[in-house]
Amino acid sequence: MSSHFQLLKTDTGTAARRGRLQTLHGPIETPIFMPVGTQGTVKSLTPAQIKETGAQIILGNTYHLNLRPGSELVRDLGGLHQFMGWDGPILTDSGGFQVFSLAKLRDIRDDGIAFSSHLDGSKLFLGPREVMTIQANLGSDIAMVIDECPPWPCTREACRDAVDRSYRWAQQCKQIATDNGFLAGGHHVFAIAQGSTFDDLRREAAESLAALDFPGYAVGGVSVGEPEPEMLKQVGATTPFMPADKPRYTMGLGTPPQILKMIALGVDMFDCVHPTRVARNGAAFTPDGLINLRNERYRADPAPLVEGLDNYTCRKFTRAYLRHLVMANEILACTLLTLHNLHFYLDLMAQARAHIEAGDFGPWHRAWVERFEAGEA
Ligand code: GUN
Repeated sequence: MSSHFQLLKTDTGTAARRGRLQTLHGPIETPIFMPVGTQGTVKSLTPAQIKETGAQIILGNTYHLNLRPGSELVRDLGGLHQFMGWDGPILTDSGGFQVFSLAKLRDIRDDGIAFSSHLDGSKLFLGPREVMTIQANLGSDIAMVIDECPPWPCTREACRDAVDRSYRWAQQCKQIATDNGFLAGGHHVFAIAQGSTFDDLRREAAESLAALDFPGYAVGGVSVGEPEPEMLKQVGATTPFMPADKPRYTMGLGTPPQILKMIALGVDMFDCVHPTRVARNGAAFTPDGLINLRNERYRADPAPLVEGLDNYTCRKFTRAYLRHLVMANEILACTLLTLHNLHFYLDLMAQARAHIEAGDFGPWHRAWVERFEAGEA
């Protein structure tokens, strides 16, 4: 049994787990959703407002923060927590994945990824040493290894190469984090299992990384364009081969139903830009699906977004007022809808934890998903 992660309960009807992960900035109750703060800010919210949503941990990004303002500057100003005024845990992604989606002219080599910055075209390189140094400079509570996420669909050969390269990079990241005292200092490093749609490669990735004894494990390479059943199959092909006594994280997911289905597969941690991004587009989550406030039917609607949901937006404002802010392009719309959407996600996680504890997670999550999906426009 590892000391930093306590498995408090495992569901009997599903593979759902209730756990507690200790970090340098306090404990995290799992399952948990992590709001995304790519550039050292959860867009449109102050750290006090992030706390108010019920967030226990947020995400930052190596790729972005290293390009601007630079990880050494953040280190010299006291680390990312102090720099951005957030005193809770922070997980940082390693940057490789963002290179694939943002940078131009990238070249994957055995020692890392060479690329041109999407900001000014300057030539840069990220390998195991670079990403572990940057994440140490940021003072990340949970650092991710650098990995190669193959596109979907991809050939078995390309996937084989990505799994092998990701394994070697994970090994090197662990060694670097051991040598520089990052792990001994109480920071965590999570490995990432790739494998695309190939069940045997997913299993092999999970098992070989498990043998390296990381503090936690992630499923990578999901939600990269594949249909949802395929995505669930990939997660289901990976989690059974991850150590039961370590936290498990699927990267970049998902909608509320997807998250509940992944919890049922034994996943503990999630992050996604979805709730914050759709908020900035004028959409809000309800138990009956996502509603778009641009719709004329909310013009004079006196109801809150969700009756009885205890967040500032729902306590104080009508759908009609929120729609007015969206239609008038007022920046307060972003803040109020982001606050609501994140609270909705985090409240859902609190409900999931309570139902795992109560032993009825299976039927509860199926009914929740059915209602949400029936209501979707
Ligand atoms: N974010 C979403 N998917 C991935 C992935 O496969 N790898 C990394 N590093 N980050 C991700």
